[in-house]
Amino acid sequence: MLLRSSLSLMLLGCGGPAEPDGTGDSGDTSPVEGAPGPGAFAPDFDTSSDFFTLMAGPVDGGTVHGTVQIWYSTNLRGLIESGGAFTAPVGSVAIKVQDNGVEAITAMIKRPAGFDPDNSDWSYEQRAIDGALNNEGALPSCIGCHVGWASTDYLGGTELR
Ligand code: HEC
Repeated sequence: MLLRSSLSLMLLGCGGPAEPDGTGDSGDTSPVEGAPGPGAFAPDFDTSSDFFTLMAGPVDGGTVHGTVQIWYSTNLRGLIESGGAFTAPVGSVAIKVQDNGVEAITAMIKRPAGFDPDNSDWSYEQRAIDGALNNEGALPSCIGCHVGWASTDYLGGTELR
């Protein structure tokens, strides 16, 4: 009798963690999925291959933030460049350097499902320009604005160039 192991096939089947949010397809958009991100702020974001920017330099976004330049973790690159709706994978990171008289860094990090389920599980960070952490968490003052960018999963700067 031939014993044909299906073990290898089973192992191949163990892909990355699929994490359905349990809501089923929402209908109006079908967010694209992608690879997990690095999951943390990195002080060398502006030189690290884990991050990219689509901006040649700081631009004035016409907001109270003054001039800004944004870096995203590279797992978001295809999702952002496609210009469509997406849900940022767990571990995705966005980092913004802003200068409205005082230079500062803000960041968003996508935490695992359950961190802040009502607001898409982002943790927000406020950092000094040298990277020192001043404040972090599901900060209501940040969420209040970022909730407005539903189709890009709370990310508001994806169109800036
Ligand atoms: C008044 C509205 C507003 C508030 C409040 C706000 N943001 Fe933003 N945020 C924006 C806008 C607009 C952008 C797009 C870039 C720009 O013009 O500054 C942005 C972009 C960002 C980005 C770049 C990633 C992206 O595409 O969204 C990060 C990171 C970020 N904000 C972090 C924060 C953090 C942390 C807080 C709270 C301390 C915060 N923001 C509060 C409006 C806001």
